[in-house]
Amino acid sequence: MSNLAQIGVYGLGTMGSALALNMADNGFDVAVTNRETDWIDDFIKEGDGLSGTLTGHKTLEDFIAGIQAPRTILFMIPSGAPMDAMIETVMPLLSKGDTIIDGGNADFHLTRRRSALLAEKDLHFVGMGVSGGENGARHGPSMMVGGTADSWSRLKPIASAIAAKFEGDPCVDHLGPDGAGHFVKTVHNGIEYADMEMIAEAYKLLRYGAGWSAADIGKLMTEWDAGALKSYLVEITGKTLQETDPKTGKPVVDIILDRAGQKGTGRWTVIEAIKMGQSASAIEGAVAARAWSAEKATRVAGAKIIGDDREQLDLSATDLHDALMAARILGYAQGFRILTAAAAEFDWPLDYARIAEIWRAGCIIRSALLDDISDAFRQGTPEGQLYLAPSMVEKLNDTIPALRRVCIAAIGGGYSVPALFGALAFYDTMRQSRGTADVIQMQRDYFGHHGFERVDAEGAHHGPWWD
Ligand code: 6PG
Repeated sequence: MSNLAQIGVYGLGTMGSALALNMADNGFDVAVTNRETDWIDDFIKEGDGLSGTLTGHKTLEDFIAGIQAPRTILFMIPSGAPMDAMIETVMPLLSKGDTIIDGGNADFHLTRRRSALLAEKDLHFVGMGVSGGENGARHGPSMMVGGTADSWSRLKPIASAIAAKFEGDPCVDHLGPDGAGHFVKTVHNGIEYADMEMIAEAYKLLRYGAGWSAADIGKLMTEWDAGALKSYLVEITGKTLQETDPKTGKPVVDIILDRAGQKGTGRWTVIEAIKMGQSASAIEGAVAARAWSAEKATRVAGAKIIGDDREQLDLSATDLHDALMAARILGYAQGFRILTAAAAEFDWPLDYARIAEIWRAGCIIRSALLDDISDAFRQGTPEGQLYLAPSMVEKLNDTIPALRRVCIAAIGGGYSVPALFGALAFYDTMRQSRGTADVIQMQRDYFGHHGFERVDAEGAHHGPWWD
């Protein structure tokens, strides 16, 4: 038996150390190292008593030499320039057939470029999206893997062992070559942004429109989490809304400044969707809400100059529940449409049912609905559209009236609900066989001689204004 490690983990920050401990907990021998080498000894102590061995290395050379060839090395470091610098440093130390995994939230364009660079040297580059935060990484994340089949064959046993399980099925899979895994993770985050914002919008309407207390909304969400809306995000929102700030005695939510950051993945989802001629209005609504949230001072000025008048709303909790369900289906549907466009654009064999399956546990967007979504994809979706699958049509028929009532009440009362409204606008547009583009085409032809298609004849035509 060789005493070399089965895998290496570089980067002992929150996610890297949790993944390394998870691997050791599952009996794997793991070589570890970190840029700040003084972290290593303390980390190794944390792993005492786990069934696999953690071996610390102070230099990159020792670390690489301590891993069985062909080597699989997971890098948990910032995905931009630091990853490029690391690739340059580590490449001369590797041997043909070795694999570098980038487990960060990387821009998939970089992953594609890096895959091509490593392939020239007969090395593998794997872009692996990891979801579930620190706790997920330690006890079972969902992982979206892109790269060569060869590198996956070596990573699979370790990844399957450490992944979250849904009824025994590991929430990890090889989704396609090069950037496929990082792209799927990006879209996961786009859906995450939409779902988070929709829940926040429901909270805002109940709190400020209907006068509920934060704790009561928390309790309501906890009830929702026991039913069809069951999901990690509803669960944690329900739980945290019931917490009190020890310093002031106020609900914790009230002492948090309403200004949210974003690292970029939600925005990338929208950017990539638009680049592929797609749109994802619910996700866009959520990205917009985050961007506007950052402009706190401007909003305060707006409230002073324009006024922050809002009406009281007569809302039922059942309507809010159903509205969230409808909007959630449409948010997921928009995410899957972006995946479909990317599969065509980049020639990726994405399996949408499988993607829904590996999102059923471990990741931030895990929800009961994903099990129905994977079934819907397995049974076939008309026009490739999730929202046209019979089971989703049935759910939408039951819940859209509530989404409509909630949006009408919100807009009528002066509340902005960009994600809920974005979902409804998409739904209504996509069920109307004749839209607004006849007028757009007419305008384009008038001012730019662009031409249009006729409903009753082939070819390009112009309006009588050009005769
Ligand atoms: C996950 C999360 C995680 C992180 C994102 C989003 O799936 O575990 O998506 O990756 O929370 O980076 O962060 P921002 O909200 O800062 O964009």
